[in-house]
Amino acid sequence: MLKNKKILLGVTGGIAAYKAAELTREFVKRGASVKVIMTANASKFITPLTMQTLSGNPVYTEMFSLVESPEISHISLADWADVFVIAPATANIIGKAAAGIGDDLLSTTIMAARMPVLFCPAMNSNMYAGPIVGENIGRLRRSGYRILEPESGELACGVEGAGRLPSAGEILDEVERMLTPQDLAGEKILVTAGPTREPFDPVRFITNYSSGKMGYALAEAACKRGACVLLVSGPAALTCPRGVELVGVSSAVEMKEAVMRRLQDSTVIIKAAAVADYRPAQTSGAKIKKEAGPLRLALERNPDIIAEIGRKKGRRILVGFAMETENLIGNARIKLKEKNMDLIVANDLSRPGSGFQNDTNIVKILDRRGGIEELPIMEKSAVANHILDRVLALKAREPEKKQGRAKKNVRRP
Ligand code: PMT
Repeated sequence: MLKNKKILLGVTGGIAAYKAAELTREFVKRGASVKVIMTANASKFITPLTMQTLSGNPVYTEMFSLVESPEISHISLADWADVFVIAPATANIIGKAAAGIGDDLLSTTIMAARMPVLFCPAMNSNMYAGPIVGENIGRLRRSGYRILEPESGELACGVEGAGRLPSAGEILDEVERMLTPQDLAGEKILVTAGPTREPFDPVRFITNYSSGKMGYALAEAACKRGACVLLVSGPAALTCPRGVELVGVSSAVEMKEAVMRRLQDSTVIIKAAAVADYRPAQTSGAKIKKEAGPLRLALERNPDIIAEIGRKKGRRILVGFAMETENLIGNARIKLKEKNMDLIVANDLSRPGSGFQNDTNIVKILDRRGGIEELPIMEKSAVANHILDRVLALKAREPEKKQGRAKKNVRRP
């Protein structure tokens, strides 16, 4: 979401200024262009040369240096950017911005800004907790500026408390949210991800190759687009996306319980998890000792979670997946209909770059009107946004359904 975006980064004179280097490098790694404005005090913590090297652009430090390059001014810098990030934001710059003081390049550029502005406060926790800073931050918020709350913990000055600059990842995620249309705001989306584990003794279990990547990509994309997201995940070696609520489960029965508990709260359910259809009919309380000859396991059916959701979904939108190795469309269409899904995302595991473990997927999206949307191989994050676009399109049609009902009820003269 940051590719080709233009980021104006304001750096002020706090001990966290050194973190602006990593932040710049991460922005550039994600394909953004970065221009940096540094206050005089910031230059005492990190050199303009470092920031110029990392950003690949000249660094602007003084209002008066603009005399040599008149085409660059606080106005044109502000006009250039898609988003303006002040990180770290000291109590000083927060106070100046809140009071409309423009006595240096950074503070005047903030006043000239017409694009979204994000302040990332970082300072001693006593200062941050003080009434003045609190009042100034409140004023900035009321004026439409975005504030990323600092983290709590041990600060450079040795005290504990709120005032630590969030990680570069946190700041990047917040900037991506600012640049992403919040078109899913108000939606409560329940996503399942990952495999389930079906044990047959305290040491062994049956599972599958799901990594959880597809489901986690859906949860992250939905959260960035403003949805409230609950991720019910089987065991996965992935970090829960920021802003997403995670409920970890292991077996299919546990996944079913977790999903059904939160079904009422949800407006959209997306079932990307690879749920085991079967579990061992018996489980041993002790490790099964190996003996000569085969070990036979009787398997019994697990609950079909999506079928149960399909029966109870009401007006919720239900999106399922079909994981096949043959007859992809035929099998997917049967599941779409039988389980009362609104959309089904079919992926053929036999195709390289599709399905388990990969960062990419190749899917066909089937709807209830017989439509089939074939997507080329793409990152699972891009597949996730396509699926969410289709969910939005279904949501947009809902008024039609309502109007349709209204039209039916109109008495013809
Ligand atoms: O996790 P990754 O490594 O990224 O791999 C992604 C994926 C291949 C797991 C994913 O793209 C995918 O296909 N997920 C669905 C896997 C699956 O269980 O498909 P299925 O055709 O067996 O099941 C159909 C649907 O019913 C799925 O939405 C599944 O979540 C659901 N189901 C299945 C069995 C069951 N007992 N309860 C269910 O709810």
